[in-house]
Amino acid sequence: MTHNHSKRQADRWGGRVLAGALLSMALATSAQAAEEQRNVVSWSPASWQSAMREMPTGDAQRGKGLHDQRFCASCHGEHGESLTGNWPHLAGQRAEYTYKQLLDYADHRRREDSRAHIMNEVSEQLSEQEMADLAVFYEQQGLPDKAKPDSSHPAHELVSVGDPSRLITPCAACHGNNGSGGINESPSLRGQPHDYFVRTMKMFRDGARHNDVAKGMAQFAEPLTDEEIAALADYYAVD
Ligand code: HEC
Ligand code: HEC
Repeated sequence: MTHNHSKRQADRWGGRVLAGALLSMALATSAQAAEEQRNVVSWSPASWQSAMREMPTGDAQRGKGLHDQRFCASCHGEHGESLTGNWPHLAGQRAEYTYKQLLDYADHRRREDSRAHIMNEVSEQLSEQEMADLAVFYEQQGLPDKAKPDSSHPAHELVSVGDPSRLITPCAACHGNNGSGGINESPSLRGQPHDYFVRTMKMFRDGARHNDVAKGMAQFAEPLTDEEIAALADYYAVD
């Protein structure tokens, strides 16, 4: 009796799992079809400049409310701190950068893998005002502290001098001293978890992430080796 009961239970679950699998296959196929029909427009320097000028003024208080109500906190922590090494850190990030990523996920300019697809769905629900509110909330959370690695660190040269022979501009020229961020959408890097940093750098290098304006970032990732990317991740990560 107990046995039969639990067997029926198992069959029901089996059925549900199968139905779920079919449903998600159908969704994946229709998502793919929608993707093919979607007209994804890349930024030009001029179109991004004008979108940035039109960025609504964000309100951190409203951003905090959205962070809780839209479940951002369940994946990104109470203040935008990374909960897993493979997901990005948002706290202290420049508002223009965060705003741009949310626009890019919503418009599918950024759609490199299944993790980005989570954010495609999340961002499609947000208005530009809400994106700006969230962006300002994260910016106000402050970057994690980390002493600047000394000049013996294996990535020091690339960060502060670059490599003229491979046309690599020093990372610090755009990402600021000690990874604290540059101007406009140039993000801060300090505190980005090691695994996320490596993953997104390789995606820039290999062409899967191409939401940057006029390859303004990808061109510097393209010449890098796996070892250099790992050293750079270590340079900026907090632990
Ligand atoms: C189910 C989990 C989940 C939820 C909910 C979620 N995120 Fe994300 N978010 C992720 C993952 C995973 C990534 C990394 C995606 C990638 O690699 O492209 C990410 C990436 C991001 C990024 C890019 C950061 C960077 O450094 O480029 C931003 C910004 C962001 N999320 C904001 C939000 C906001 C705002 C919300 C709520 C409206 C939210 N997320 C909800 C999982 C989630
Ligand atoms: C000319 C300016 C410039 C230089 C030089 C540059 N970057 Fe970037 N980087 C950017 C911009 C702009 C973005 C934002 C791209 C976008 O729109 O998503 C970016 C994005 C990134 C990201 C993604 C951050 C995130 O949260 O997903 C990483 C990691 C990164 N850069 C690392 C580096 C490293 C390491 C170097 C040096 C080898 C470097 N960058 C050199 C401008 C630059």
